[in-house]
Amino acid sequence: MKLNQKSQPMLNPIIAALDVDTREQALKLADELADVVGGFKVGPRLCLRYGQELVKEVAARGPVFIDNKHFDIPSTMEAAVRASFEAGASLVTVHALSGREALSKMAALEKELSQKRPFRILAVTILTSWDEHSVPGVLKQQPISQHVVELADLVISSGMTGVVCSPHELDLLQNKGLYLVTPGIRFSMDSLGDQKRVMGPYEAIKGGASALVVGRPIIESRNPRETATDYVMALYEKK
Ligand code: C5P
Repeated sequence: MKLNQKSQPMLNPIIAALDVDTREQALKLADELADVVGGFKVGPRLCLRYGQELVKEVAARGPVFIDNKHFDIPSTMEAAVRASFEAGASLVTVHALSGREALSKMAALEKELSQKRPFRILAVTILTSWDEHSVPGVLKQQPISQHVVELADLVISSGMTGVVCSPHELDLLQNKGLYLVTPGIRFSMDSLGDQKRVMGPYEAIKGGASALVVGRPIIESRNPRETATDYVMALYEKK
């Protein structure tokens, strides 16, 4: 399988979301998972408590995806993404809803920074915890799938190359040449948590995903390493 090339800057496409509150928990998980998963996602709950020191420590164990989903004026977004890059991130997220001017700035920034080392800026389309009922009223005039396609087209025409989407939108986006990252990945026996639009790892990769974010099924498992291994193995064989 040509997974390795497709998931760059990670060697395998499973990204473990380190959605925990302490440095000790995060590094324990990172140590356990380092040779199994392709990278680690850290979000505001760790970044706000431990900042770039922790990002550096995690980055010593594997590529880091900083998922702070910036949605701000373009200059503030640029400064935040630069700070994430300097901390050691290989992937960062911004919101596609931040608009063309911000996204064009992100495209130029990705081009500049990725000359120093592999680096991607991903635009979040519509959160996977939203469905047609829970999506905010202003977005209810058309189906989520249509918003996702329009936002992806905006991302592309702004010059960016990657998005975060639900696995259920992969078929709509897979021929657009984007790097596609999907959370909302579950085996059928896993609990959904607050995710609404989910899919199994095999189906998501087959459907065109470049990388998959898996959080609670791995980190809340009794044996995170074994569960992460199950997710990696499932990329090759339907489970
Ligand atoms: O625990 P679970 O596998 O649902 O974790 C998914 C992770 O992906 C969480 O850290 C969440 O913040 C993130 N995420 C998401 N939906 C998006 C973007 C990121 O669930 N659209």
